Amino acid sequence: MSKNKMKEFGDYQTPIELATEILNYLKGSMEIPKTILEPTCGLGSFIKSARKVFPNATILGFDINKEYLNTLRSDLISEKDNDNIRLNVQNFFEANWADYFKNFNPPILVIGNPPWITSSEMSVIKGDNLPEKSNTKNLAGIEAMTGKSNFDISEWMIMNLSRALNNFKGALAMLCKVSVARKVFSYLIKENSNLNSCKIFLIDAKKYFDANVDACLLFVKFNDSQMNNMTCKVFNGFNDEMMQEIGFDSDILIANVKYHEKWKHLEGKSDYTWRSGIKHDASKVMELIKVGDKYYNCNGDEVQIESTYLYPMLKSSDLVNGNVEQTEKWMIVPQKKIGEETSIIKTVAPLTWNYLKKHSEKLNKRKSSIYKGKPRFSIFGVGDYTFRPWKIALSGFYKTINFHLISPIQGKPVVFDDTCYFLSIDQQQEAVFLSTLLKKDCVKEFFQSFIFWDSKRPITKMILKKLSIEKLIADHEKFS
Ligand SMILES: C[S@@+](CC[C@H](N)C(=O)[O-])C[C@H]1O[C@@H](n2cnc3c(N)ncnc32)[C@H](O)[C@@H]1O
Repeated sequence: MSKNKMKEFGDYQTPIELATEILNYLKGSMEIPKTILEPTCGLGSFIKSARKVFPNATILGFDINKEYLNTLRSDLISEKDNDNIRLNVQNFFEANWADYFKNFNPPILVIGNPPWITSSEMSVIKGDNLPEKSNTKNLAGIEAMTGKSNFDISEWMIMNLSRALNNFKGALAMLCKVSVARKVFSYLIKENSNLNSCKIFLIDAKKYFDANVDACLLFVKFNDSQMNNMTCKVFNGFNDEMMQEIGFDSDILIANVKYHEKWKHLEGKSDYTWRSGIKHDASKVMELIKVGDKYYNCNGDEVQIESTYLYPMLKSSDLVNGNVEQTEKWMIVPQKKIGEETSIIKTVAPLTWNYLKKHSEKLNKRKSSIYKGKPRFSIFGVGDYTFRPWKIALSGFYKTINFHLISPIQGKPVVFDDTCYFLSIDQQQEAVFLSTLLKKDCVKEFFQSFIFWDSKRPITKMILKKLSIEKLIADHEKFS
């Protein structure tokens, strides 16, 4: 199978050890199923394990790939007791699962590992393994179900199966990306589904699929006798203690309900504004290395340039590693505010002007439309706040929350790249006081209640804005 075809059909078969571990876990965690459905069974790891763990259940396996089913059939023939297994070629998107489930004997277990590919990745490889447009409309619209036009195929499939299972006693246990599992949980809560419990078990996708994604088993029980629980517990593997509990506060998905309960009184508006670092989309031109009092470009060539527009720079990696007191990285900051005319540089700093002009082709080629119609060499994420001497900064990219107090370097205010966030402050005393407060555990826990660490950029300005620094100060004064 070609690489693109593998991508299109999300063709990464589950290793039998993982399928067996999952089935063994399910055996102790749900009523014995009478019917088991694997809607995209491929080479059948789940079918083979289910047969051993639930020998009396009727097992139905489907896949779009006929060859896989043939291989699975011949694997099964060599074993005994296969009368209760039925395998059929079926395109997932052409089945009416809700109708189909009416023929099943409950409890029903829906299990599997549907394809992991997004609709936009699908369009890049020109694949068409997608739900039909008309079909999605009948299902209340793909956007209504998935919340947007770019969606994971597995997200669509799991939501669809959950909808079908909602009227029956049973459970759904599916491998998927953690972000997909969360979206399915949100969808089920918003739809007022008959779910009784929802759990996420993190798995090591590198080990089992050689994939660098945050993956999990999503396990949802429907119409069980248990009390309804509106949270989703997250575990690290199948034998571990609970790591966190996801839930809702009004319409907002909360990453850690325990921390949220503890610290939600700190939520609110603040007069302090979180900013992102400078965006220029031209690091090879705008960023230089300073050694002694000389500046060098990325090729190691010396650059003749005035220091007027140069500022010491820190990146996410510096903040994460705590390298914040010195830096050899310097950034050309040609504007004091967005849209400021740049032609003045010609007179104020002719060497800088010549340098920028020499590289104007690269600067003009910047793809983002934000640079169109703006003065030459424009940058973004710049304003008065960039030039205040004191900063409290953190990276938005890494899986840690570490605030750093940043003081001027070589007499100049420090600037950041656009993966960092910061507060800018005029007075040293205020900056020291605030950075001490922001380093407290309560602030970490406050933010952890909103952060989903598997996101591409886990920490965002929206999350940082949730903290009322004034309330934090008041809390601190009350208890100290
Ligand atoms: C990630 S693999 C998992 C296979 C199997 N469930 C397992 O756990 O080993 C995804 C499977 O989905 C099948 N598939 C992809 N698109 C499908 C579709 N539209 N209808 C049915 N099966 C599909 C592929 O052939 C592949 O076997």
